[in-house]
Amino acid sequence: MPANLLNMVRDMHSRIPIISGNWKMNTSREEARNLSSTIARLSSETNLTAEIVLFIPYVWLSEVSEIVASQEIIVGAQDSYPGPNGAYTGAVNTEMLTEVCSMVLVGHSERRTVFGDTATKFSAQITDALTKEMLVTYCIGENESEAADGETNRVLGRQIAEVFAGADGESLRNSVHDDPRRFVLAYEPVWAIGTGRVASVGEISDRIEFIRGELGKYSDRADEIRLQYGGSVSPDNVAGISEISHLDGALVGGASLNAGDFIDICGAFTV
Ligand code: 13P
Repeated sequence: MPANLLNMVRDMHSRIPIISGNWKMNTSREEARNLSSTIARLSSETNLTAEIVLFIPYVWLSEVSEIVASQEIIVGAQDSYPGPNGAYTGAVNTEMLTEVCSMVLVGHSERRTVFGDTATKFSAQITDALTKEMLVTYCIGENESEAADGETNRVLGRQIAEVFAGADGESLRNSVHDDPRRFVLAYEPVWAIGTGRVASVGEISDRIEFIRGELGKYSDRADEIRLQYGGSVSPDNVAGISEISHLDGALVGGASLNAGDFIDICGAFTV
């Protein structure tokens, strides 16, 4: 969408829809070029009154950022190391990322379960990214057994507190107070990720309402924080999801690897 139209929509809506594609560890260089340029082309042909984010593998960040720049598509990294340059073999820190993208994805369930990342890292990543003027998407969600045990709200409340509460949450609270658009929270039930088992509209709606209430404990601008749902979102199920009040977009995995499907999902959230 042209920048002036997007800015007009931003002025009219405190929470402009935001749809993010998380490519995870997928795409060759050629595929990344083709996918990003097709997404950019389709978004320019469709008057999407929504922000689009692509979380792509580190190695393609620089190139994809250039490909999509004219469409104001936000490019983000799927992880970050929250510290200064130094002897950390294999790591990529926030400072480096500021040169090639503008958003960081934090707390994804695959970072929690596959790589053993913990809340201490997530909190540091958020603080570091916000300090360096980057945008942040923070993911929370219960796993299958927590859902079965009726523990979902307790888990979500804890994951929110882990980054918002206490001294560690201070820079996040301040940042949300100054500009709530810089922080996006994605609710992704772990059991719905990559399984085709999308949560029901009623379930998502209840959780999203609960999450907004929890955010209200830490911020007087909680109503302006954008909330996404993630977990098996596709063009086939997005219509019901996009109507949920309090919900502002989706964090899309598998379906974001198909440009047409991804743009269809973005279109469903257009205001
Ligand atoms: P799927 O859309 O493939 O279920 O993945 C969701 C997700 O994890 C996005 O971050």
